[in-house]
Amino acid sequence: MNKITTAAAAVLGLMGVGLAPVAQAAPNWAASPAHSVGLFYPGQSSWEWALTTADHPGADKFKAGKNCAACHDGDEKNMGALLVSGKKNEPSPIPGKPGSLAANVQFSHDDQNLYVRLTFAEGSQPNAHGDAAYATKVTMMLNGGGVPEAGRAGCWGSCHDDSAGMPSAGGSARTMYLSKTRAALSRQGGGDALKPAAALDALKAGGYQLEYWQAKLNPGAAAVAANGVIFDKRVETKPTNVAAQASNAGGTWTVVLSRKLNAPGAVPILAGHRYTVAFAVHSGHTAKRFHYVSFERSLVLDAGAADFVAK
Ligand code: HEC
Repeated sequence: MNKITTAAAAVLGLMGVGLAPVAQAAPNWAASPAHSVGLFYPGQSSWEWALTTADHPGADKFKAGKNCAACHDGDEKNMGALLVSGKKNEPSPIPGKPGSLAANVQFSHDDQNLYVRLTFAEGSQPNAHGDAAYATKVTMMLNGGGVPEAGRAGCWGSCHDDSAGMPSAGGSARTMYLSKTRAALSRQGGGDALKPAAALDALKAGGYQLEYWQAKLNPGAAAVAANGVIFDKRVETKPTNVAAQASNAGGTWTVVLSRKLNAPGAVPILAGHRYTVAFAVHSGHTAKRFHYVSFERSLVLDAGAADFVAK
């Protein structure tokens, strides 16, 4: 402690004020416009389903270069209503569950952190008893640019037909994973056979991994932060790199997730780079695939052509 801080400590001590760390400046939300992002219930519509012409009318055009959001942006309410009803791609619908929600999303940054704020109402959610600990979970996927399929399809880049609870899982607890980590990929997904270690190392060195940030929520309780990476499986980062804050007023959640622009093992967040983000909300004590998801959105810092410009 140098002399000035010692003096300050003495003064603060006299005033009865503890030497708590200086509170971080609040993000300047006013500088970054909010955009509404639709989140819908996807049922069992997997990456492999979306790429199969016989199953999905958009498959051929997607393969020819048109991204998911380019066709479906604005469709989320109708898609969610159809899928949550059990009439398509959902063998075990949750009775009474709303099919979609809309979140207002904003990004902001300072010289230390990137912040994202989501504001949304969940509507009337039946208790699905899938997650006893948390009523709601809010997750953001972040692609640093090294996962082209996530750049074009957001979360679908990691959502496979043989992950837990999906049609080809066969009882497996397989988590989300990225396609290129698998030796081969079929309509049923990639199974457990991985590429050789050298090929996996090369993929990783090229930035081929996704990150996720999550807030686990119960009304009236402090948010619990978590994050992790998805490569050949989903692995939680411990201790977490992410901070989460949340409040619930009259059924409307306001959730802020943030992390350092540079954190060990995490995607570096830099001006001049283009990121893909996508969002998921688990409502009504749901787990795994029983969530609402958004299509992909682009993010840059400061200036540039993207869905979100964090200032
Ligand atoms: C060329 C446009 C196009 C693209 C690109 C596209 N889709 Fe589709 N998608 C469609 C059409 C058309 C339907 C059928 C809608 C209908 O039958 O009313 C559909 C249906 C769906 C459905 C089922 C819900 C429903 O309303 O039938 C899901 C889920 C879906 N698409 C996800 C995706 C995903 C994920 C991607 C990107 C990997 C994607 N789509 C890319 C055109 C597209």
